[in-house]
Amino acid sequence: MPDDIDIANFDLMALPTDYVPEAHRYFAALRRGSPIHPNNDGSFILTRYDDLVTAYRDPSVWSSDKKAAFGPKFGNSPLFEHHTTSLVFVDPPDHTRIRKLFQSAFTRKALAALEPRIHALVDEYLDELADRGEMDFVADFSFKLPVEIVCDMLGVPASDRLLIRDWALLILGALEPVLTDKQFQDGCDAVNNFKAYLRDRVKERKANPGGGRDGEILSALVEAEEEGAKLTEIELLHQCIFLLNAGHETSTNMLSHGVHEMLRHPGEIQKLLADPTLIDTMVEEVLRFQAPIQINNRRAQHDTELSGTAIPAGSIVHLMIGAANLDPEQFPYPERFDIARRPNRHLSFGLGIHICAGNALARMEANIAFAKLFQRFPNLKLEAPAKLSNRIRFREVTELHIAV
Ligand code: HEM
Repeated sequence: MPDDIDIANFDLMALPTDYVPEAHRYFAALRRGSPIHPNNDGSFILTRYDDLVTAYRDPSVWSSDKKAAFGPKFGNSPLFEHHTTSLVFVDPPDHTRIRKLFQSAFTRKALAALEPRIHALVDEYLDELADRGEMDFVADFSFKLPVEIVCDMLGVPASDRLLIRDWALLILGALEPVLTDKQFQDGCDAVNNFKAYLRDRVKERKANPGGGRDGEILSALVEAEEEGAKLTEIELLHQCIFLLNAGHETSTNMLSHGVHEMLRHPGEIQKLLADPTLIDTMVEEVLRFQAPIQINNRRAQHDTELSGTAIPAGSIVHLMIGAANLDPEQFPYPERFDIARRPNRHLSFGLGIHICAGNALARMEANIAFAKLFQRFPNLKLEAPAKLSNRIRFREVTELHIAV
């Protein structure tokens, strides 16, 4: 139980060393003892489901614009340019304009076109598992699938996925609350390299306008840029970078956590095998239980209050998705991993105008991957305890050794 946790001195910028492995206990302690918890820098940590919903639902009070927050953190740097131009970190009306341009890539038809490719890749990785008898699920499966798919969707060669993965990790890594000089420099270099790389892809697409597949997002964005008023070149490059980043690391961790949680709860594997129609609720439960993105942020546009606590204008609030997903007021027996849980209105894809544009794609990847994996290998085993990284914004599995 969380009673031995010292909540009074809890601070997001100076976390206890056992925070990552013990996150669920810290969430429970915060939710019970200090649900709108002040950090020393004047920001607040929100852990109650209803408070997150309030913040997500009203962008006129709770802004996603990061210029004020990232100015002091990133200065006038490539990281600042990137993180303040990406769709997820802008408010209406720019947000409305840019989000519309993404729609063509996320229609049912565009997603259906990706489905056979997901099946083929999953089969290929599972064949490898059958041949070898074991694998590191992260390196050999969960990292590869989402990056291949998002590259396809965007229209960049999947053969460049290692480059892209490295840049993405460095750029997203710079979002951690505390940053070293090296992380900052590596992040800036990654933005510059990524932009140069994408400029070449844009040039290729402009030289060959019909060359992209149906629903390819690079073509849609290039067209919007050519029409001028809809998208600037800088916006175009940063949306591509953002999409590549948003679309793979998150899904990688969803897949890794899903396999890990199922192997930790073998009764749930039996339930799924007995009733394969549980696959949809299983995917939702994995997302709820181990939210791949643990924290979103908003900034109060003016003086306001949240559940009776005064929040001064300009304050940053940290929306702890992982904690809200375990709120007993919303989820009965929240610590129980139950693949048949219904309803399950978790917040792992956020809510409101910024709700994850790729949620249907992520769900499709998980659905296909988990169904095939457990059907084909009902006796799958964990070979060693999974390794988690110490990042807190992204809940990341770094190694997951499994055997058939
Ligand atoms: C399990 C996988 C995923 C998780 C957990 C996830 C989570 C999230 C969350 C929490 C947000 C909202 C951020 C906020 O409100 O501040 C978001 C936004 C977004 N996600 Fe995802 N995501 C996932 C996969 C994907 C995929 C596969 C794509 C695309 C290929 C994608 C594209 C986006 C985009 C474009 C936004 C910005 C939407 C906007 O600001 O309007 N995501 N995602």
